[in-house]
Amino acid sequence: MRKKVTKAIFPVAGLGTRFLPATKSVPKEIMTLVDRPLVQYAIDEARAAGIKEFIFVTSRGKGALEDYFDHSPVLEQELRKKGKNELLEVLKDTYMDSGAIAYIRQHRAMGLGHAVWCAHRLIANEPFAVVLPDDVIAAEKPCLQQMVEAYEETGGNMVAAMEVAPEQTSSYGVLDVAEDHGSVVSVKGMVEKPKASEAPSNLAVIGRYILGPSVLRNLRQMKSGAGGEIQLTDAIAQDIGSDVPVSGFRFQGERFDCGSKAGFLQATVSFALSRPDLRDDLMAHLNKVTQIDKAAE
Ligand code: G1P
Repeated sequence: MRKKVTKAIFPVAGLGTRFLPATKSVPKEIMTLVDRPLVQYAIDEARAAGIKEFIFVTSRGKGALEDYFDHSPVLEQELRKKGKNELLEVLKDTYMDSGAIAYIRQHRAMGLGHAVWCAHRLIANEPFAVVLPDDVIAAEKPCLQQMVEAYEETGGNMVAAMEVAPEQTSSYGVLDVAEDHGSVVSVKGMVEKPKASEAPSNLAVIGRYILGPSVLRNLRQMKSGAGGEIQLTDAIAQDIGSDVPVSGFRFQGERFDCGSKAGFLQATVSFALSRPDLRDDLMAHLNKVTQIDKAAE
């Protein structure tokens, strides 16, 4: 029997400079898609996949994240007094069981690999998930749950994967595919952010991982890679050829790059359109503005 994946690391230490000035005082992960912060989508997905322990790797200025997952007695009392039970219900998703959430500071921005390594004492000798909240994935069955099910068969290290346009490989970790079995591909190499001319394929790593403890051991020794940062991709790639298989998992669902403004807006529109209470109004507005746009052409 494989060990169950019950721990997840959420690297949230980034400065979010692409969203300045908003991120001057609000952590990027608290920015909202419709009415829920990005990080809530990540937590919901992890919960659906059976994660019980949530480890956030944070940095200075991320206090709002800690408050978000805390009880809010004054607000709750007020809502109770006013009989707003449906709002009390909405708040329930934001609560964490006592001891289920941990925050670790990454003191210097040394890369995603380093951020993940910062959590090594809490992971010890178990498989764990990594969820990058910037990558929001709309799916009937949540992406990490799909991966946990596939991982039960494969074990080893598994990364979510998706085909991207060839000119976009320089924004991603990219897989060198050994065998393609459709949803699961076995991997013989991984490169972080290669130029299109040097990319081994256009199958890109998306921010969901299930990794074994060997990756944390690899990270301990890791030298800086692409962009002068310690890369998670390199630490996973180091296991290739050992007895820990590395696979890519083509998930079912639509991924939004909420680290970019365009992706964030697309996610906002898509999630709002999937909400019965917002759909009609938003549709009417979108129809209006697109007609104005067309008329101006
Ligand atoms: C990180 C990873 C990269 C991966 C990407 C997915 O890059 O380093 O391998 O493809 O997330 O979103 P970042 O977007 O943090 O630069």
